[in-house]
Amino acid sequence: MDVDDTGLVGVQKTLGPVLRAKALDNRLPEPILGDRHAERVMSGLDPDYDKRRFGTSQMGLVAVARAKAHDDWAREFLAVHPDAVVLHLGCGLDARVYRLDPPATVDWFDLDYPAVVELRERFLPPREHHTQIGAAVTDLAWLDRVPKGRPVLMIAEGLVPYLTEADLRRLLTAVVDAFPTGQLQFDTVSVRAWRTSKWDPTLRRYGTGFHCGFDDPAALAKWHPRLEYVDEAPMNDSPEMLAKAPANVRRLYRLLNLVPALRRSTRIVRFRF
Ligand SMILES: C[S@@+](CC[C@H](N)C(=O)[O-])C[C@H]1O[C@@H](n2cnc3c(N)ncnc32)[C@H](O)[C@@H]1O
Repeated sequence: MDVDDTGLVGVQKTLGPVLRAKALDNRLPEPILGDRHAERVMSGLDPDYDKRRFGTSQMGLVAVARAKAHDDWAREFLAVHPDAVVLHLGCGLDARVYRLDPPATVDWFDLDYPAVVELRERFLPPREHHTQIGAAVTDLAWLDRVPKGRPVLMIAEGLVPYLTEADLRRLLTAVVDAFPTGQLQFDTVSVRAWRTSKWDPTLRRYGTGFHCGFDDPAALAKWHPRLEYVDEAPMNDSPEMLAKAPANVRRLYRLLNLVPALRRSTRIVRFRF
């Protein structure tokens, strides 16, 4: 079963290439993420995933570097806040909760559209202190199902570009308003990457595209008086990706990174409040 045969529609299908990249990473001699769940889930979804058009091409490794950066930040936060509530938004089939394996004092919420959550329930095992919410992230009623009064960690990997700026603003503001303290981490694309996404062959095939882009994502801190920009993690120029990727991928990204607009076409950013 290919991602096209899963019953997923539009933007939901974008979870496929990211999952495939994570599965292929796990087959590298020295993986970046080393996610055995991704390889297992990908094989369950599509046993021939490595025999199709792009075979075992590791061109998607940059998405794996992004996942690793989000994991590293999340581990840091949870080490200091073992009583946190985690909001993992637009989770797709990502196995972050199993990779991080947080203590029972953490309550973890994975949120994506209902069809995606149904697939998660088929392929990923249940665990204590872990809730899956099948909902549109923009319908903020889901926030009522989450305990408040504790530190929050909001992770949105590969989600933000699919939201409109107005919806993103409502989401970030609502999360900051709902919790006493927390960390928000997500990735954004540049204005140019947003505008040109209508030509991206994969997004076109899935019938979706980006709806927002930022050249200065740090400025989003201005959206809420309690929000502070912390820092950015490297993505297209991730040293770990460039060190571990096969030579053809390394060459491509070294070339691409010579153009600042391409190097900064996508950014991973962290905020606190
Ligand atoms: C590129 S995939 C990333 C999946 C996962 N975060 C990962 O990195 O493997 C984007 C995900 O965001 C989800 N998504 C996009 N817009 C959404 C929305 N408005 N509400 C809930 N989920 C959304 C899609 O269904 C998809 O699973």
